[in-house]
Amino acid sequence: MSEWQKTDWRNKPRVQMPEYTDAVAMASVEGSLAAYPPLVFAGEVRKLKSQLGAAARGEAFLLQGGDCAESFEQFSADGIRDTFKVMLQMAMVLTYGAKVPVVKVGRMAGQFAKPRSANTETIDGVELPSYRGDIINELAFTPEARIPDPKKMLQAYTQAAATLNLLRAFSTGGYADVHQVHAWTLGFTHGEQAAEYREMANRIGDTLDFMRAAGLDSTQEPNLQTVDFYTSHESLLLEYEEALCRLDSTSGKWLAGSGHMIWIGDRTRQPDGAHVEFARGVQNPIGLKCGPTTTADDLKVLMNKLNPENEQGRLTLIARFGAGNVGEHLPRLVKAVREEGAEVLWTCDPMHGNTIKSASGYKTRPFESVLREVRDFFGVHAAEGTVPGGVHFEMTGQDVTECTGGVRAVSDEDLSDRYHTACDPRLNASQSLELAFLVAEELSARRSAVQAKAV
Ligand code: PEP
Ligand code: CO
Repeated sequence: MSEWQKTDWRNKPRVQMPEYTDAVAMASVEGSLAAYPPLVFAGEVRKLKSQLGAAARGEAFLLQGGDCAESFEQFSADGIRDTFKVMLQMAMVLTYGAKVPVVKVGRMAGQFAKPRSANTETIDGVELPSYRGDIINELAFTPEARIPDPKKMLQAYTQAAATLNLLRAFSTGGYADVHQVHAWTLGFTHGEQAAEYREMANRIGDTLDFMRAAGLDSTQEPNLQTVDFYTSHESLLLEYEEALCRLDSTSGKWLAGSGHMIWIGDRTRQPDGAHVEFARGVQNPIGLKCGPTTTADDLKVLMNKLNPENEQGRLTLIARFGAGNVGEHLPRLVKAVREEGAEVLWTCDPMHGNTIKSASGYKTRPFESVLREVRDFFGVHAAEGTVPGGVHFEMTGQDVTECTGGVRAVSDEDLSDRYHTACDPRLNASQSLELAFLVAEELSARRSAVQAKAV
């Protein structure tokens, strides 16, 4: 077989990608991006891969989260800060429950392109091409706004670079101090509605007090002040991905320079398609969404294509079946993995199989369904003796009203108050943290059960 080339995807069938008409503009954008610095570096990507390998063995736990679609209009330092902040809070709670390090990966700094269930959208009898994310076209319902414009890739790159710059500053500049993160969490649990989570928060506080007394203080211990924070997105717009692809001189391997981890969506995972072809050639950790229509045979082919050397941490299978469907689908795919002897990290995306239309007409997700899918996921792995290695959420640090339920209950009628997503509904800050507490309780109970068996 000849060497992989970053352009090989162009010879494969592609789906969910726009037809650009202005070839001159496209060539100019591709030329610019190819000359710009990559957003991430190979050493970081290798470090993430090794941490994901630990998660696959149950020695770490992956928390992946962020917007369904990043937006040009809503881009702000506060928005990035708030999502980063709530992810750190969640990570601390999950660390306490799982008693292993939590690997933090944002759906950030590149999560712009969206697959759509229909190619066109019709409103009041007018049919226009679908909105495909800010890197491709615009949400406004006019013919001009929906034309794919290659120049948007440059704006996406700039926004991703600025986002990463801020994330790197927050990660190492003192903002991520454990005592600070815990103080924010107390702000949530001291509220009347979240009283049921107070006990665990107090136990975390006790642990930090003990550590401080024992001399493990963040003023002396840099590990308590800084975090590793990685970025990820769906590798959907392959012209952008190709233009940011770089050869890593240390390893001689290709690197997707657009983000630390990239994933292949449920609609673009055709084993002989363009998206799989691109992902197989880069050394980054790769996510693969697995849905109800993923067959065991396809999964086997995909695991071999995407991870031919069976490297730990290379391939994350992101299960997204929907609450109530996990028992039907996860065991058959776990079996396929076992039959192949494949190294994979299993994580649960309890968002994409649980989208419904509310009575008020909004696309939403009930908090209860999200929680139920996570619990079902843990249950199947406990029964199979495999590792539930992480969770994947669409969430924001903002106080939006997009998913229903949670202790600060968002009702169907509330959805119109602050429904800001350009695509799928996200958990808000309170719902995200509450979910982390519930997942931590689950992880803690499962640890106790395993320990009891071992005694
Ligand atoms: C997504 O993660 O936003 C997405 C579109 O997911 P999926 O491919 O699983 O539907
Ligand atoms: Co989504």
